Amino acid sequence: MRLHLVRLITTITASAILCALLSDHVNAATPNATIHIPSSRPAFAEKLSQGLIGFSIEMDRWTSWAGDAVGKPNPFVNQVLGVMESFTGVPPPFRVGADSEDRGYIQPGITVINASFPAATADIPFPEAEITGIGKDFYALSSNLPKGTSFIWGVNLKARNMSETVAQVALLADTFQGSRKALMANVTLTSLEIGNEPDFFTFPGWTPSAYVELWSTIVNKITSIIKLGGPNEPKLEGPAFAGFAAAQWDAMSVLNAGFAEGKAGKLLGTFGEHHYSGVHAYPSFNPEPKMGDLFNKNSIRSNLTKHAKEVSRARSVGLPYILGETNSYANHGAPGVSNTAEAAIWMVDNALQAASIGVQQMYFHHGVGFRYNLFQPVSGAEDGVGLTSRPHILPVFYGVLAVNEAIGSSGKSCVAEIGTDSATVSAYGIYEQTKLARIVVINSEMYLPSQNSTRANSTVYLDGLGKDVHFTAKRLSIPFTNATTGLTWASVNYDTASGVPEGKPQQEDVTGSAMTVAASEVVLLCLK
Ligand SMILES: *[C@@H]1O[C@H](CO)[C@@H](O)[C@H](O)[C@H]1NC(C)=O
Ligand SMILES: *[C@@H]1O[C@H](CO)[C@@H](O)[C@H](O)[C@H]1NC(C)=O
Ligand SMILES: *[C@@H]1O[C@H](CO)[C@@H](O)[C@H](O)[C@H]1NC(C)=O
Ligand SMILES: *[C@@H]1O[C@H](CO)[C@@H](O)[C@H](O)[C@H]1NC(C)=O
Ligand SMILES: *[C@@H]1O[C@H](CO)[C@@H](O)[C@H](O)[C@H]1NC(C)=O
Ligand SMILES: *[C@@H]1O[C@H](CO)[C@@H](O)[C@H](O)[C@H]1NC(C)=O
Ligand SMILES: *[C@@H]1O[C@H](CO)[C@@H](O)[C@H](O)[C@H]1NC(C)=O
Ligand SMILES: *[C@@H]1O[C@H](CO)[C@@H](O)[C@H](O)[C@H]1NC(C)=O
Repeated sequence: MRLHLVRLITTITASAILCALLSDHVNAATPNATIHIPSSRPAFAEKLSQGLIGFSIEMDRWTSWAGDAVGKPNPFVNQVLGVMESFTGVPPPFRVGADSEDRGYIQPGITVINASFPAATADIPFPEAEITGIGKDFYALSSNLPKGTSFIWGVNLKARNMSETVAQVALLADTFQGSRKALMANVTLTSLEIGNEPDFFTFPGWTPSAYVELWSTIVNKITSIIKLGGPNEPKLEGPAFAGFAAAQWDAMSVLNAGFAEGKAGKLLGTFGEHHYSGVHAYPSFNPEPKMGDLFNKNSIRSNLTKHAKEVSRARSVGLPYILGETNSYANHGAPGVSNTAEAAIWMVDNALQAASIGVQQMYFHHGVGFRYNLFQPVSGAEDGVGLTSRPHILPVFYGVLAVNEAIGSSGKSCVAEIGTDSATVSAYGIYEQTKLARIVVINSEMYLPSQNSTRANSTVYLDGLGKDVHFTAKRLSIPFTNATTGLTWASVNYDTASGVPEGKPQQEDVTGSAMTVAASEVVLLCLK
């Protein structure tokens, strides 16, 4: 499939690509860039969700995030989630499940969890559990998360055992709607996900139609067990396709098979698929990701192109589109890339690009020790940043702060990409109602002190704002592209043992239509 695509591109659009390469080449000679700011909000601007950036949690490590017992939250986790909330006014949404969702079984007699892990390998130091036993308090731990947290909970489809799926849904119903409803008063079950990445299942005769048929049969069975679809009741989220090298498994295939129709289909609230930019330690799929690949402006856009198509297909049946599981490189992140400052810059461009094409939420995938985590919830998680002695944030978290501050807390902001003449400088306009309120400028040029003694600075011209424009500027500063520590957002250090930020936010007052943005830096401009 990939070879086929490459051949198409070379024969049909070679001249277009050559033009693009040539103009990039011309711009590469100067780091300076012009941002062409439109005179009014573009018609294609998309609504920005305050919960754009959420968490997908590998279910086998749920207690590391939620705490070991009901009423005993993990203080570091809730502190860091509170920092994210402080910018947008809502706590980040959660999805719990993923690979281990289809290896999860209710185990009578278990209080919380009974996960059995295989041996670690050098490439996968924190493997996922082979079996996760679900105890009676497992779902109730959701109540330990900050007030206002919303949940997508996943249940087992792959077992193809109706009694097992029903048992899991029954425990969820008892937790959120039944005997423990009062305990769950501050959190919401917004969606139920039945099965993770069913496009990877290898049953004989397994097709998108077979999937839709099995899924609908289960939905029709569970509607008598859990209240779904009414006001303040959960809806369904799916199909949760991985989307890797399996082109016949896309939105079109399931919609053609009737996924969004009938009694079951009408209970869908969200259309969700998964996305990664590539895979770590999987040479038959792609070469090992290297520095500079992840935050490359062209790669970010070409990676998200197929989701723009899926957004419109989901909207054609009235459903919002989410990336229910996403992150940089599958297999828990690529060392030297996913766990470095490059990922912080990627986070800003990638998240705002996704939002600009209509993705409503992105659930960034997490385990314990995964190199692409936003943060590690417990100590002992060796992720290559050298902070195993304590729970800690990773560099990518700084990108999240920039995005959340750009989104703001009004609940009414919109985003549109603003064109630039540069292959390494990107820009987004954030609008409050129709008024341009903020501009995010991203410089994804590499800076490695080992190869360059001076850091390149781009002069960025804001074309279209007039000469006397006043704004404030906050910077996402990183020591160098592959740094693992030492980042700041608006001069504040967020990498503390408690998760409480250290320092007062600093901003620059800027007047005029040009400013400097260093190689590997992000700037948030607020118009006055
Ligand atoms: C970039 O802009 C700065 C400030 O205007 C200017 O001094 C510099 O020469 C420009 N660089 C290039 C390569 O054009
Ligand atoms: C825990 O899970 C393992 C593996 O599935 C199982 O053999 C064991 O019986 C479980 N323990 C309990 C107490 O259920
Ligand atoms: C199906 O699930 C039920 C309930 O968990 C279990 O008792 C039964 O053994 C399972 N059946 C098979 C064939 O695994
Ligand atoms: C819900 O949050 C309020 C604080 O806003 C707290 O007083 C109350 O105990 C919480 N309820 C539960 C069940 O956690
Ligand atoms: C996605 O980005 C990676 C770099 O992170 C690149 O290697 C890959 O080719 C891109 N894929 C697509 C479909 O654009
Ligand atoms: C080194 O600096 C040059 C000129 O500013 C720039 O084009 C190049 O990308 C830099 N290389 C690295 C690895 O930082
Ligand atoms: C870019 O700006 C920084 C900070 O002002 C300065 O240290 C550095 O020398 C500048 N780089 C170049 C190539 O002028
Ligand atoms: C960053 O990359 C350079 C060049 O490959 C390498 O020498 C250096 O060790 C890396 N630094 C870190 C902190 O990984």
